[in-house]
Amino acid sequence: MIKRYKKLYYLGLLATFLFISNAQSNETTPFTESVVIFNTICAKCHEAQCSGRMSFDDASEASRNHIIRYYGDAKDKKWLQKELFTILNHMKEKCAYYPMESPLPLKRVWSSDVLDKMTTLLERNYFIPLGSFSPGKYYINLELEKNAKITVHLVSEEFEMVIEDCFTPDNKKLEIPFSITDKGNYYFRMYPKKSIRIVSLAVKGVDE
Ligand code: HEC
Repeated sequence: MIKRYKKLYYLGLLATFLFISNAQSNETTPFTESVVIFNTICAKCHEAQCSGRMSFDDASEASRNHIIRYYGDAKDKKWLQKELFTILNHMKEKCAYYPMESPLPLKRVWSSDVLDKMTTLLERNYFIPLGSFSPGKYYINLELEKNAKITVHLVSEEFEMVIEDCFTPDNKKLEIPFSITDKGNYYFRMYPKKSIRIVSLAVKGVDE
């Protein structure tokens, strides 16, 4: 008798586990490429647009040309147009960045193979979730492929800009200090003047 209950108990556990992991994988569907495009290119106008819903029911079809105007590469990619549309919908309804599947690297050091997935190929705009920070003083260490002017943003999950500035690297390296006053998730964004790759990115606490 007890044995039977045990079996049921484990089956229940398994079902719960399957349910949870399935729900999670749905929630974090990796639209990585589209999320990066949206959060760099479309973000210029659509970031923090929290109006609750789309204007039209057929907005997806209606906005096709609009999307292509700002991201020409989406012209023959229906899936990309669709994903970009879904991401704007998420921004409007949840007032939040679309979740990205990007496990935080150990010690907050990102190497180029990971970074290459968080950039738009042509422009080399980057959008990288840096994870959760507690209040304190930190700095970003950037190593670039070449010396070129870049614009860097550090944005909170509430869309507050902590860094919004233009930098010129010295010998392909940059150290950018910043302070966090509100605990939460933060996101790094980079717009280079010329298309350049990030070789490595690290974030350290001042006392580390
Ligand atoms: C220069 C500013 C600008 C850029 C860049 C821009 N948009 Fe828009 N977009 C607008 C404006 C203005 C509207 C019409 C008003 C509104 O809904 O915000 C709009 C409307 C839309 C709509 C219809 C929304 C609705 O409620 O019906 C979609 C979808 C959309 N944009 C997607 C995108 C995507 C995807 C990108 C990036 C590839 C992008 N936009 C880039 C300014 C911009």
